Formats: sequence, C-alpha cells, structure tokens
Amino acid sequence: MNEPREALLRVEALGRDYEEGRVQALRDIGFRAEAGQCIALTGPSGCGKSTLLSLLGLLDRPSRGRILLAGEDLAQVRDAAAFRARRVGFVFQFHHMLPTMTLQENVEAPMIALGLGRRERRERAAAMLEQVDLAARAHFLPAQVSGGERQRAAVARALVNAPTLLLADEPTGNLDSRNGQRVVDLLVAQARERGALVLVATHNPEIAAALDRRIALRDGALLPD
Ligand SMILES: Nc1ncnc2c1ncn2[C@@H]1O[C@H](COP(=O)(O)OP(=O)(O)OP(=O)(O)O)[C@@H](O)[C@H]1O
Ligand SMILES: [Mg+2]
Repeated sequence: MNEPREALLRVEALGRDYEEGRVQALRDIGFRAEAGQCIALTGPSGCGKSTLLSLLGLLDRPSRGRILLAGEDLAQVRDAAAFRARRVGFVFQFHHMLPTMTLQENVEAPMIALGLGRRERRERAAAMLEQVDLAARAHFLPAQVSGGERQRAAVARALVNAPTLLLADEPTGNLDSRNGQRVVDLLVAQARERGALVLVATHNPEIAAALDRRIALRDGALLPD
C-alpha cells in the first residue's frame, strides 16, 4: 500500500490570544497543504487572516497548537530571522521597498542573509526582475515607478531566495483590478514553477475563486469547506 504523501504544511489546533486571552484572534485552526498549492485565505476584516500568516511566517508565535513545515516544528526554530530568510517570502499590501535603494538593490537584499556573493546576488536579482517584466526599471528607485511595478518588484523580492512558503497579505489591496490580477497571476505562476506553497489573504472574490483552494475564517475559526 502506498503511504499517503506527507503534507508540506501541517497546522494543528492552532490558537493565538491577545489581551491576556480576552481576544481570541485564532481558535483551533487545523489544515494541511501540499507543495505547489495556491490557497486563498478569505473572511471579513478581523477574522484572523493576518494573524495566521504571521504565525506561519514566524513573525509571531502561537498561544496554542503547532505548525509543521516540511516536518520541522516551528516552535523549535530558535533563529526566526534565519528561518524566514531561508524558507519564507512575504508580500504585503504596501510594498515595503527600501526607498533609498533601487528595485535591483531591493531584490538583492534578501540574498545577503543567505550569504550569497555579490555577483550571484546581482545576477539572480536581475533574472528575477526580468521574470516580473521589470528589467527596464531595475535601476529606478521605488518612488520612480508605478504602484503595480512596485508590487511586482515586491513579488520578485519575495521569491528570490526560492522560499518553501510564499505568504501574501492582501497583495492587491492597493492596486486597480487589472494590476491586481497581474500581480496575483505572476505570484501564482512563479510560485508554481518553484513548487512553493502559496497563501494569499484577500478580500477579492475573483482572486480567491481563481486559486486552487479556499480557506475561510470567521471570528478566528475555520469555516467548514
Ligand atoms: N496586536 C494585537 N493586539 C490585540 N488584538 C489584536 C492584535 N492584532 C490583531 N488583533 C485582533 O485579532 C483579530 C484578528 O486580526 P487580524 O489582523 O488577523 O484580522 P484580518 O483578518 O487580517 O483583518 P483585515 O481583513 O482587516 O486585515 C482582530 O479582532 C484584531 O483586532
Ligand atoms: Mg489583515
């Protein structure tokens, strides 16, 4: 008999409280996900989407439960920054590009944490910018390009270290629908090509409908499929 394929991500009985337990931002969250899947995280404002992404990306620690990524229990990770550099790419609603650095330099930055040499950083960043159709803008500052271009550069930066997990928190929230769709298409295509697992928190039903799977939250709990 074949063994069932081990899930890349396992989330078990996960909870996160704030205000000494008076706010339960997440309650008893459990799900599994495979490499290469693109999942929409949906639900009304305050339902816990950003909280869940923060826990998955080790920007925050849970109050209860556990997260296993490729068999590794995130509670055992001592150096969260090193883990994030190696394993996780983030795209946020606002691009968070460093304003005094060009797009090229912004995309190179995450590779410093991996200890890659200057030449390799430069080559990989240039290739990544090419793939998001920004080769001609590589040496512009973030303020010198459009909102959609900045967000595509943010996608390039999130992917350049070949993360296992790509977490996007309303990546299109600040864009018109055409540019928003383009950013999501890029994110999905690039992540699929690399076999990354993608979670996208979104209020946009069209974007959610276009992904492989939806996980819906209400008041910190999972809605049944
Ligand atoms: N640092 C904090 N301290 C106290 N409560 C918090 C904190 N961060 C989040 N919360 C609460 O946890 C709940 C979930 O918040 P979260 O930001 O995860 O929601 P969300 O689904 O991302 O909402 P939105 O769609 O508006 O971004 C909310 O009730 C929020 O007020
Ligand atoms: Mg949020």
